[in-house]
Amino acid sequence: MPPFTSHVFVCCNTRDAGHRRGCCNPDGKGSLRECFKAEIKRRGLAPLVRANAAGCLDQCELGPTVVIYPQAVWYGHVTAADVPRIVSETIIGGRVLEDLLIPDEQLNAHKLGK
Ligand code: FES
Repeated sequence: MPPFTSHVFVCCNTRDAGHRRGCCNPDGKGSLRECFKAEIKRRGLAPLVRANAAGCLDQCELGPTVVIYPQAVWYGHVTAADVPRIVSETIIGGRVLEDLLIPDEQLNAHKLGK
């Protein structure tokens, strides 16, 4: 079995418009994940890099959210326009994009009362 270098988990949870916690997949089609899949394919990174559909990652207020493992880098408010640089900078280059990064102190803030 080949090794994997990165798994990109893309929240594809869908909620009704106006939900108090928001929705990472407003069109219900997983479009953001499709963008990652296309970019990974275009860059020839498959099968070592995969973009997987995730259910709610419980960081909804910061969504659309994406987490990349094993690097454990969390990104929030991700758009389709961000996908090429996430792939080139973070997945290939190993650099964290500070403008998208969800800092550790914000992760689970809604549950921890921060
Ligand atoms: S709906 Fe995407 S993190 Fe919860």
